[in-house]
Amino acid sequence: MKKISSFLSITAIAGVLMCVSCTSGQDAGIVKSPFGTLPDGQAADLYTLRNEKGMTVKITNFGGTIVSWTAPDKNGNYEDITLGCDSLSGYLKGTPYFGSIIGRYGNRIAKGKFSLDGKEYTLATNNIGNHLHGGLKGFDKVLWTAAPANGSEPALKLRYTSPDGEEGYPGNLQVEVVYTLQQDNALKIEYSATTDKKTVCNLTNHAYFNLAGAGKGDILNHELALYADRFLPVDSTLIPTGELKPVAGSVFDFTRPVAIGAGINDTGDAQIVAGGGYDHCWILKNNGNTLKLAAVLSEPVSGRRMEVHTTEPAIQFYSGNFLDGTVVGKGNIPYKHRTGLCLETEHYPDSPNQPEFPTAVLNPGETYRSTTIYKF
Ligand code: BGC
Repeated sequence: MKKISSFLSITAIAGVLMCVSCTSGQDAGIVKSPFGTLPDGQAADLYTLRNEKGMTVKITNFGGTIVSWTAPDKNGNYEDITLGCDSLSGYLKGTPYFGSIIGRYGNRIAKGKFSLDGKEYTLATNNIGNHLHGGLKGFDKVLWTAAPANGSEPALKLRYTSPDGEEGYPGNLQVEVVYTLQQDNALKIEYSATTDKKTVCNLTNHAYFNLAGAGKGDILNHELALYADRFLPVDSTLIPTGELKPVAGSVFDFTRPVAIGAGINDTGDAQIVAGGGYDHCWILKNNGNTLKLAAVLSEPVSGRRMEVHTTEPAIQFYSGNFLDGTVVGKGNIPYKHRTGLCLETEHYPDSPNQPEFPTAVLNPGETYRSTTIYKF
């Protein structure tokens, strides 16, 4: 029975559906479809991953971007919970990294400069004099090579070679990212990279979540828990000052679930003022490189709840403060102030310039590895 179902699924769509496990209803697996053409004539594709429960994640190989992601509410209704665009042209117009893979260095490097073995490197600066999320053309703006990965669950493997000198970084970096949509309604993202010259590497994903549904109001009623008792205060350009500040007694304390709106406008807190809300990196309590629970996000009306597990030592919680309605998203809806939030698992911002922070240096012969799981 299972075999027949698999066969029908595959033939029905002329070989573009890779049926991983076909049981009932819509088939679990991966479907590839065209997503548009880049200005240089290259074609981008869209891969729809579906699991047996009916969760779908659509990913384009342009930027390795999560375009949409459906998750069930308390009544089992699936709805798209990530911000994004309907077509490639939306992404080409420019978005604040909706759902994309971020690299070679996620978050900021002060003044776009750092040194390795006494040699200074100068990176592209694209954020008030600092380097942000890989520079002018980071990994979110390149076309990745994509192919379904083998395994019992729908998975997509993306590859990109970042050439020596790209955006100012040393070394040819071979990057691989595997998205696996697990049957337990979790999306696992596994990153790996190797280099042929000493470099820095800090990869993450920049999905914007709104658990009420993308385009359905702001995220201020969402409740967030972060398993972190310290965070990194920042200067006026959002570069960490170097201090690891205890969260206790401040609006940065998410050690138990707190409504995001409760402290986000606390102008008595200098760090809220610096970030225009939350735009900071929290240091996870267990910051070794094992997989651990980093955050839990929930939305009381829909009842959706998402856990974030990661091998990374830290997590950037960005409350969508720079969204201002100018970027129009799926269904022609302008994404207004704080209508999505990011939970970016990562090494500390500006690590290449702050020797007390865990190192983000990658040497030839080593393999960078990082795993994050978003589970509903
Ligand atoms: C940063 C924000 C930035 C946003 C880009 C976040 O990761 O922390 O400061 O504005 O990315 O949209």
